[in-house]
Amino acid sequence: MKIVVIGGTGHIGSYLIPRLIHAGHEVICVSRRQRDPYHTHPAWNAVQQVCIDRAAAEEKKEFGSQVKALQGDAVIDLICFTPESAAQLAEALTGSVRHFIHCGTMWVHGHSEQVPTTEAQERKPFGEYGINKAKIEAYLLSLHRENNFPVTLLHPGHITGPGWLPINPAGHLNPEIFIRLSRSEEIVLPNIGMETLHHVHADDVAQAFEKAIVHREAATGESFHVVSEQALTLRGYAIAMAAWFGKEAKLRFLPWPEWKKTVSERDAELTWDHIAHSPAGSIEKAKRLLQYDPQYSSLQAVQEAVKYYFEQGNIPARIPTAKN
Ligand SMILES: NC(=O)c1ccc[n+]([C@@H]2O[C@H](COP(=O)([O-])OP(=O)(O)OC[C@H]3O[C@@H](n4cnc5c(N)ncnc54)[C@H](OP(=O)(O)O)[C@@H]3O)[C@@H](O)[C@H]2O)c1
Repeated sequence: MKIVVIGGTGHIGSYLIPRLIHAGHEVICVSRRQRDPYHTHPAWNAVQQVCIDRAAAEEKKEFGSQVKALQGDAVIDLICFTPESAAQLAEALTGSVRHFIHCGTMWVHGHSEQVPTTEAQERKPFGEYGINKAKIEAYLLSLHRENNFPVTLLHPGHITGPGWLPINPAGHLNPEIFIRLSRSEEIVLPNIGMETLHHVHADDVAQAFEKAIVHREAATGESFHVVSEQALTLRGYAIAMAAWFGKEAKLRFLPWPEWKKTVSERDAELTWDHIAHSPAGSIEKAKRLLQYDPQYSSLQAVQEAVKYYFEQGNIPARIPTAKN
């Protein structure tokens, strides 16, 4: 199959594109060519790279027709963030594409209510990003109902992998949290550390995209969560990471209004966004209809990323060698 991947050199694409080549597909990757994939892989030699700046092309109302001209049987859109952007592409591709796969987010759910959250749960997003992603989902699913537009939506959790920092047990991205845990130094968590994070390894996200193509009929007209088997509480995550470093976690807790004053404004903003959502998604639907079979637990995904970060930065710590 000829597959166009829009935004294919980032977290997901770095794993997805080699998988698609390996599966025998012809792959066209659309990006601005400003960055390389996270890891080199010989499969990239077989990929046709097309340079388009989506924002600029959308401004000129040319993006949809440019993607259509690539004549993909399937189009995977990894970088769509507004309903207008989704509409421009979907309108251009209606009638010509056999499968359109949109990358959404667990943030379409807003605050978790009944957990694990299922795809059937009513959407109650908050924040511009989640609200727009939920609008895109509703719009694309309406195109499926009304015109049989062959769409699938995949909603990842916190995408994790070697080469970038995972969301840490305090809910932000400051690597200091992992460094302190590796030294058995105290870390302070908001509230009582019972809010949740739901990570997923980027290769498991890539697996879900690949399997959506394989199981196209079952996947069409459907949304799927793409996360690990289980979410982590902040405290459980901190305790497990310290143990992985061969240490005991020293945890202190502060109510949110006090906690947020102990970190930078940026870290507080990120943590709030994560704990306000506290995702904990079910993957039963993806397992049943796509044969999704995540290879990493949340901890394994994070540990691979942290190991890479510590090694690159020459940060001394006792780090186990194998996945555990
Ligand atoms: N990161 C997470 O934890 C997370 C969680 C849930 C859902 N998601 C969803 O995942 C998707 C993002 O996937 P990702 O994390 O793999 O992306 P990413 O790592 O941010 O990579 C973005 C890709 O898009 C290209 N790109 C960026 N701006 C572009 C433009 N204007 N025109 C053309 N290409 C452009 C980049 O290459 P160039 O810079 O070279 O153009 C790169 O290939 C989004 O839909 C997001 O909502 C992410």
